[in-house]
Amino acid sequence: MIIYSNHKGQDMLQVNVELKERRYPIIIGAGLLTDPQSYAPLKAGDKVMIVSNPTVAEHYLATVQDTLTELGCCVDYVLIPDGEKYKTLDSLNMIFTALLEKNHNRDTTLIALGGGVIGDVAGYAAASYQRGIRFIQIPTTLLAQVDSSVGGKTAVNHPLGKNMIGAFYQPISVIIDTNSLHTLAKREVSAGLAEVIKYGAIFDLAFFEWLEQNIDKLVTLDQNALEYCIQRCCQLKADIVARDETEKGNRALLNLGHTFGHAIEAHMGYGNWLHGEGVSVGMLEAAELSRILGDLTEQDVARLEKLLARAVLPTISPDNMEPAEYLPYMWRDKKVLGGQLRLILLKSLGQAYVSAQATEAQVLAAIERFTQR
Ligand code: NAD
Ligand code: GLY
Repeated sequence: MIIYSNHKGQDMLQVNVELKERRYPIIIGAGLLTDPQSYAPLKAGDKVMIVSNPTVAEHYLATVQDTLTELGCCVDYVLIPDGEKYKTLDSLNMIFTALLEKNHNRDTTLIALGGGVIGDVAGYAAASYQRGIRFIQIPTTLLAQVDSSVGGKTAVNHPLGKNMIGAFYQPISVIIDTNSLHTLAKREVSAGLAEVIKYGAIFDLAFFEWLEQNIDKLVTLDQNALEYCIQRCCQLKADIVARDETEKGNRALLNLGHTFGHAIEAHMGYGNWLHGEGVSVGMLEAAELSRILGDLTEQDVARLEKLLARAVLPTISPDNMEPAEYLPYMWRDKKVLGGQLRLILLKSLGQAYVSAQATEAQVLAAIERFTQR
């Protein structure tokens, strides 16, 4: 982690994603969006297309436009409808149309201003428009700040499965202005905390314990706690992405709870359960499966459940979803290989691994524990 001073002399944090010639910085601090220096390497004369949605645009579009105009950039923008159900090929096409109508060429830069939906759709647009243009992530939800804006996974959904059409495509920088979290709904803050807790459960028992001490401060957006937490998550993610950019190995660990969670999201209809909410219940189901396989203890599962509940997250499966209804979605998961269901499970709190050993009966038993009866 690096500490640098912004234009007002305030300390800002920087974490680098070390990908050789595609290395890029993640900068973290309060007020970054109003600082022209944050948008480097953009410079006077550069063309920019901002992609956002009406909700985020109302709060932050003018600030980003004004700061980029101050820098001397030529700024256009396009808004796609708000919500997971618009993470589609149609939204992608709206971005392409705006780029073409405004004569944007290969030298343009796309800026994703919003949560994970905007970041994923705009990222895929950048990966495919004229075979690839530069893009910058400005994540404005906690989930996007700790996870989706870092690491280059971009995608849209298909009615039959989440994130089924996409690409690995890295941004040239990530600008995390913690001030943007103050306009976020509490439910969305909690959804972001699910991904935060995930990092502790997968990689870092000390961070999990720090979360047990500080989760209430994060729920109320305490600035110091937030900065530490975002920096820690970005560092953990940057380290894993640098070692395994395209998920041939350990990057898959970041999907703890996701195979279960994606099934909930798809079954409930995209947007009805938030991604982080699905991940919360999914992590518990994965933890219970780890207990059934003899790795976690009952106390470990209870500890995870308590932390998620304190983060104001769901800890029980949707009441109209039977365990067997998870399976069709789980079999379509991108981690399924050679006809085997591969799941991220826990050896202990703070240590995840990829497992192909669970039987369908064990998976169903794990889901059953977190099903309302
Ligand atoms: P989201 O993008 O839908 O944002 C949540 C809501 O908050 C939206 O209504 C949005 O308009 C609003 N919003 C965003 N910023 C705001 C702000 N500062 N103030 C007020 N409202 C604001 O949801 P999300 O939780 O950010 O992202 C979820 C998506 O991210 C899912 O599609 C998931 O698949 C994806 N994801 C991707 C990765 C990855 O590695 N690419 C990782 C995790 C999740
Ligand atoms: N969110 C999982 C990943 O980026 O790999």
